[in-house]
Amino acid sequence: MTGSPATESVPYCSRLTASQRKNPMKTILIANPKGGSGKTTLSVNIAGYLANQGQRVALLDLDRQKSASLWVATRPRDLPEIVTLESSRGEDCLNDYLVIDSPAGLHGKNLGHAIRLAQKIIVPVSPSLFDLNASRDFLKILNDKKEAHKCQIGVVGMRMNARTHAAIALENFLAESNLPILAYLRETQVYVNAAFEGKSLFDLPHHLAERELEQWEFLLNWLKK
Ligand SMILES: Nc1ncnc2c1ncn2[C@@H]1O[C@H](COP(=O)(O)OP(=O)(O)OP(=O)(O)O)[C@@H](O)[C@H]1O
Ligand SMILES: [Mg+2]
Repeated sequence: MTGSPATESVPYCSRLTASQRKNPMKTILIANPKGGSGKTTLSVNIAGYLANQGQRVALLDLDRQKSASLWVATRPRDLPEIVTLESSRGEDCLNDYLVIDSPAGLHGKNLGHAIRLAQKIIVPVSPSLFDLNASRDFLKILNDKKEAHKCQIGVVGMRMNARTHAAIALENFLAESNLPILAYLRETQVYVNAAFEGKSLFDLPHHLAERELEQWEFLLNWLKK
């Protein structure tokens, strides 16, 4: 799901109907301008979790690569439904949650729009010095805006295990920012294989996802708050 940065030029707020703008659906923005940090993986899995909880979920795919939209299109029909915002049924469609998968390179006005929409912002960070450094300015921008927009922000260590060098580096990196680490999600083909079938971890038979699900516990509780 990686590739060259591609930011949608159309402000996505304008794609929301009047009813959707007024609708108190909870909006979760997944963002990090660094390409390949795990935004789409996190977005589709969060959407999958919420749908499996009986919530009505829409995904807004802001990336021109349309990986999240492709995932929705591939999703088996017998699984809990997730719609893309583009395909949702306009005024009549009131979703409980909107999950926004954002593109690499999101910045400026489009970043501002997305932040204003979101009650929760999750920033996936990959385990390399380069990724940490590339995420530094972005996390600072988010942290500076969070009081004004009354949103909560958390970080997820992607392709990372707790108590490893990478995890300690991330903890040190965040020590002064007061941003919580919501989860460490280890590197595994479970995410990759599930995505090929339009599935999230939460759609898999328990025995296939058991080890991964433990790592999601804190993040899922944070989402419910
Ligand atoms: N926990 C994981 N274990 C194994 N592979 C992972 C994991 N998380 C992400 N990946 C893989 O890493 C790659 C990048 O992830 P993803 O596409 O989610 O990043 P992204 O931030 O959306 O990328 P882009 O900036 O290009 O949109 C993908 O091939 C994805 O399958
Ligand atoms: Mg992506």
